[in-house]
Amino acid sequence: MSHQGTTRPTLLHIDCSIRQNGSVTREITAIFAAEWRRAHPGGTYVYRDLGSSPIPHVDEAAVAAGLHAREALEENQRAAWAVSEPLINEVRQAGTILLGVPMYNYSIPSALKAWFDRVTVKEHMVGDPGGEGLLTGKRTIVVTAQGGSYGPGTPRERYDFQQPYLRALLEQIGLGRDVEFVRSEMTLAHSVPALEPFRPMAEASREEAVQAVRRLAVTS
Ligand SMILES: Cc1cc2nc3c(=O)[nH]c(=O)nc-3n(C[C@H](O)[C@H](O)[C@H](O)COP(=O)(O)O)c2cc1C
Repeated sequence: MSHQGTTRPTLLHIDCSIRQNGSVTREITAIFAAEWRRAHPGGTYVYRDLGSSPIPHVDEAAVAAGLHAREALEENQRAAWAVSEPLINEVRQAGTILLGVPMYNYSIPSALKAWFDRVTVKEHMVGDPGGEGLLTGKRTIVVTAQGGSYGPGTPRERYDFQQPYLRALLEQIGLGRDVEFVRSEMTLAHSVPALEPFRPMAEASREEAVQAVRRLAVTS
């Protein structure tokens, strides 16, 4: 079973950095999106900015709305569903999902967590490893940025609750089979004086990320 979204190739692009200017994740996802749109001239492009337009946190009514038949919903559940439903439809209609994700306090921005809490509904959950849900078969590109460095062998490796967490979340909703992570690390080297010696590392990492998304955009 494969769910590639609508017949036209569709890219759902989500950013969540609180920065509108100087954001590394926004810069890299924008490059992917521009290349993807060039490669798919007839495609559909959907953009959502959780940084400037956050969605409300999930609540009891929203969870209940996801569990019950639409016609059985109470008024507050209907209102809660009106927030969740467009987000769920967007992710179902996409063939490719592009997430720009800064590291905040070793994990993901709360704005993106709020989005995951809305789109993690029972029809998407795969249950057992290897199971399938309505989103299985889509491609996901995750562009991350970290102020420091958390790669294998670094002193902070065990503090990385961003990439392993995202992988687990994506697996849970059927997006774990075809997922690519693109990292830009040491981004704070440009603004924190103590990290100045790491500027070449930051620049090399950013350049690698640019090359990676250029490649990925034309093969998705
Ligand atoms: C609220 C907040 C928390 C952050 N926490 C971390 C952190 O735990 N580890 C880290 O390496 N960088 C941290 N940073 C730095 C960001 O990860 C870094 O600036 C990154 O480039 C942000 O993504 P952006 O450039 O797309 O805005 C934090 C930044 C902010 C604003």
